[in-house]
Amino acid sequence: MTVKGKTIVVTGAASGIGAETARLLKSEGATVIAVDRNEPAVGAADRFVKADLSDPASIRQAAKAVGAGIDGLCNIAGLPPTRGRVPVIQVNFLGLREFTEAMLPNFNDGAAIVNLASLAGIGWPEAGPAIKALIGLRDFAGTAALCDAHQVDDARSYFFSKEALIVWTMQNRWTWRDRGIRMNAVSPGPVETPILQDFLDTLGARAEEDMRVMDRPGRPEDIAPVVAFLCSDKSAWIRGTNIPCDGGMGAHVLLNITGLS
Ligand code: NAI
Repeated sequence: MTVKGKTIVVTGAASGIGAETARLLKSEGATVIAVDRNEPAVGAADRFVKADLSDPASIRQAAKAVGAGIDGLCNIAGLPPTRGRVPVIQVNFLGLREFTEAMLPNFNDGAAIVNLASLAGIGWPEAGPAIKALIGLRDFAGTAALCDAHQVDDARSYFFSKEALIVWTMQNRWTWRDRGIRMNAVSPGPVETPILQDFLDTLGARAEEDMRVMDRPGRPEDIAPVVAFLCSDKSAWIRGTNIPCDGGMGAHVLLNITGLS
């Protein structure tokens, strides 16, 4: 893995997977700019830009404050389903996309964008029309109406936001190819961070069953190296893909769905 000398922006760097990713990237010789609504621990990043990634004005301001010379963007900030469908979709998809697009002029050629999706997005092939509508939505204020139109309640919103993120990542496999800028996603299974309990509360018996078949939940240290690899030049030909990192849960779910287990 070679991120040495790169300047990489990490959203969500104040906690969980984002904090561990920032720590790992720094330890590998990258300069890290943290973007979060909360301030990261002292020394966790080289610079901190405060931003609310559910607010387009704050997002644009943050991209301006970050400035040019960026080699990587790790979009890790996210909200669990317990926060309600509008904030969940705004932070996990609309805000992430807005920030990424606002960052485009800041990127050096060859920059890598890594989106933290989730095993929760595995059902995207079944949700085409709703995902198409969300990807077509440019006005943050239209989030609730879109949810109503596509029967997206609070519990479904987290899955929906990650399904759209996986599809948007694939759609952008070649969007910035002329500049060598590539985009990929990483999809963790359940990871021990402050929001794990929120997932267990929302998913109830299903989550309990998942946790029962797994030998252990993931840790931020399981996910960060995959994100860092996708930021490095070693992964240059990986484009528009979604890499599961889930202790085998993705395989388990797919085989069960298809009756091939
Ligand atoms: P976390 O709660 O530990 O960290 C999330 C970070 O995002 C926090 O630092 C928070 O301040 C920041 N954030 C939230 N809303 C924001 C906003 N409006 N503006 C700016 N920053 C904001 O969560 P964790 O577990 O580290 O999650 C990171 C990513 O990984 C999320 O996208 C999550 O959906 C995804 N993920 C997490 C899994 C888990 O089991 N923990 C499983 C699969 C995916």
